[in-house]
Amino acid sequence: MSARETASGLRAVARCDDLGVAPYSDADDHLFRPYLGAGHAATLDRIAAWMTEAGMTARVDAAGNIVGRYEGRHSDAPVLLIGSHVDSVRDGGRYDGMLGVMLGIETVAWFAERGHRFPFAIEVIGFGDEEGSRFPVSMLTSRAVAGVLGDQDLALADAAGVGLAEALDGFGLELARFAGAARHREDVLAYVEAHIEQGPVLEAEGHALGVVSAIAAQYRFRAVVTGVAGHAGTMAMRLRRDALAAAAEMVLAVERIGGAGPEDLVATVGRMEVGPGVPNVVPGAVTFSIDVRAGVGAVRDRAADEIRVALADIAARRTVGLDLTLQQDLPATPCDSGLSRLMAEAVRDVTGAEPRVLVSGAGHDAMVMARLAPVAMLFLRCRGGVSHHPAEAVEVDDAQTALEAMTAFVTRFEHTWSDAGPALTEEER
Ligand code: GLV
Ligand code: MN
Ligand code: MN
Repeated sequence: MSARETASGLRAVARCDDLGVAPYSDADDHLFRPYLGAGHAATLDRIAAWMTEAGMTARVDAAGNIVGRYEGRHSDAPVLLIGSHVDSVRDGGRYDGMLGVMLGIETVAWFAERGHRFPFAIEVIGFGDEEGSRFPVSMLTSRAVAGVLGDQDLALADAAGVGLAEALDGFGLELARFAGAARHREDVLAYVEAHIEQGPVLEAEGHALGVVSAIAAQYRFRAVVTGVAGHAGTMAMRLRRDALAAAAEMVLAVERIGGAGPEDLVATVGRMEVGPGVPNVVPGAVTFSIDVRAGVGAVRDRAADEIRVALADIAARRTVGLDLTLQQDLPATPCDSGLSRLMAEAVRDVTGAEPRVLVSGAGHDAMVMARLAPVAMLFLRCRGGVSHHPAEAVEVDDAQTALEAMTAFVTRFEHTWSDAGPALTEEER
């Protein structure tokens, strides 16, 4: 039997590659799989078939997440959740998120091929929105599962003005049921996520795998700069209140402040819309995003305060309006120490080496799921640390080692459970 027909890292990688093109992408010439798009729908059909083939029942939950369930020895057993996300950024890579979902399926397939059932169920979950590629906030669907949505989340609209209700409707889902994707705390034992590192540390230090100790705090802001539009040929330079020139200064201030802190402090303007966006009109309005992150919440908060002050100064000096709205606040999230210890032991089992422990600067569904259950994360090295880019790449051998670490983790998790009842008590959460 070829490696493609039984559980393997090769199959996980090959499936990510299969899903990297249309019809699993909404774009013909690059990968773009936003939440609730046609590519998302086609992807879920394909993943459901793979889940079924691996011995699971598959369903799409009320938030558009794909969920495969591998029953435990008893039908009402609590659940070990393994997952990541299936959406991508525009012109993204094939493995960000998807490889974790595929490795979850391979992990279940590995045990199913051996006829092994656990005293708990395993569910593999592919979150529909982690990136925030469609609506202005990210992690909408893990927040639904963790039961931590805000009221404003249900009123979101995408850049084309399509509201969440309409987008869900096109997917056969209903806004009124969206929050019903929430899981009960007592049913979920733990959430475990495998993900590419998206940074250069593992590769530089020669490790195939790493264990995540914590995930950096994030803010997402929307800035709206309002100037005065006018004729580009007749409006004197000294009379202008050019929203784009002001925004350009603001972008540089964000960059300067992000670069003035510790290495893990980062600040990014990744999206900008210019109105009216015409060559012969002085820009009258600009909207842009600001993403600020740091491993320590206080460092991020201090930088965000400095950004607020700097942008207000620029707006005042240039006599333009500035409206800065906080759209998302994800606190720094430590992974569960007990589960991370199990993951470290699993990595040691398969690599024979002391695992590299690292903080994730990238956001992950695990930071939301930590509000529901204890979480652990496994990182795989990726080529050159490149991610959110089509050049994203992983070695098949590393994916195989990751699969072995995931199966070792689940085995250790089962032993902890069997020896001492539930692996983690309510207090340990
Ligand atoms: C998701 O990939 C993020 O870190 O923004
Ligand atoms: Mn990701
Ligand atoms: Mn990503």
